[in-house]
Amino acid sequence: MIKSVLASILLAASAVQASPALTERGLENAVSTDPFTVPKDDRNPRARAAAIDVKRKGWLYSTYPMGVAYYPTGTLANKTIAKDQESWLPPIANLQAAIADEQVTARAAIIAKGGLNKLEDYANLYDGQWATSFPDGPFPGMLTNFTDDRLFSMIRLSASPYRLKRVQASDKLLFPVDAAASITGLSLPQLQAQGRLFIEDFSEMKELDPTDKFGAGCQAYFYIDPKSGDFLPLAIRPLVKGREDSALIYTPKDQPTDWLLAKFIMNQNDGWHTTWAHITQSHSAAEAPYLAAIRTLSDDHPVMVILNRVEKTPWNIRPLLEAGVESGASPTAGPQYYAWTSLSGREWANQVYSSGETANFQSNYYRTFLQNNGLINSKFGPALKSFPFYEDASVVTEAIRAFMTSFINSYYASDKAVAQDTEIQAWRSETDVAKHTSAPSFME
Ligand SMILES: [Fe+2]
Repeated sequence: MIKSVLASILLAASAVQASPALTERGLENAVSTDPFTVPKDDRNPRARAAAIDVKRKGWLYSTYPMGVAYYPTGTLANKTIAKDQESWLPPIANLQAAIADEQVTARAAIIAKGGLNKLEDYANLYDGQWATSFPDGPFPGMLTNFTDDRLFSMIRLSASPYRLKRVQASDKLLFPVDAAASITGLSLPQLQAQGRLFIEDFSEMKELDPTDKFGAGCQAYFYIDPKSGDFLPLAIRPLVKGREDSALIYTPKDQPTDWLLAKFIMNQNDGWHTTWAHITQSHSAAEAPYLAAIRTLSDDHPVMVILNRVEKTPWNIRPLLEAGVESGASPTAGPQYYAWTSLSGREWANQVYSSGETANFQSNYYRTFLQNNGLINSKFGPALKSFPFYEDASVVTEAIRAFMTSFINSYYASDKAVAQDTEIQAWRSETDVAKHTSAPSFME
């Protein structure tokens, strides 16, 4: 191996000496020991095509009980999935064992401190607990600032801004807020006219299949305060199926416990969205093009190599979730913190995936998405003075963009070269077969 590497370097070095006119790129290629090639540089295109054909036969499209995107099946796919299982199951089993152990200790500590009698007592649940299963604990500030409106509103701008939108001047308002002027100094139409008003609408969640817990589908207004510039909650309207006409509107002017309850109900919606949308936004939206790539790109293609690195054990997510859905399907099981059944979670995830809301590839590019919702670069209204999600995501995403740009530039001299890459073009066509919505084109 080392001999052959050395041989090619020596060969290349002598070739450089013999041809002084070799360009810089030519030099790079000549000394390259990169085993990965785009199709036109492959010295054995027949063997390459045959190997792709084997993959196409061993990786087929199938459905999965969890739904959303296609799931792979076939001899090669099943082998990979079984092998992946060996690596992802043990850590999960270990974590479950740690939770089972540590909840006994946590419970004993709560009882020793007199139980859960007032809201602040819930902080004791995390005091020196969960050393293995939850070592970092909740987000900093969560256990001390939980009644602060800024914590509530900044969750939107920190964790998941995917249902938050700036209300445009021509938008129809969802509901009136009589107390708006006494809370903000401006009426609701004035806030709207100045581009200071935002909405989050989870009203479709009132249709979910309920458990014996109480839940609602909330609509909420947020605003940029004219004086402080803070992003704050203005009102929450929880909607219950069949009782929409008598829905109450809660604001910070209500009794603190009533307002806190409204914020809890709304956070249930946001948590549900974060949990169930995540499998479609982060997983299926990437799994669909990955499966299409496996079926069209050679394993020697540099893009395939990168995808294999990025998509680590991706096929475990749905089996895990499906197991959770099934074990949570009985009326007495399932996460106790949501008011809806796990079966309706599965249904909801499929709705937001098939509608394109979470799966549409190009409109969900993070900057496009945030801009379309008026959260960044808005020509209307003041800018958000702090947007932690964007501030963090842009660092990571721009670093990935810089890396990928340099990666692609190292294999392709021009856009034309990409357009002429037969495997890349086959991948693009295959994304239609894989029902991957709005995949970008790689044509010039
Ligand atoms: Fe995930």
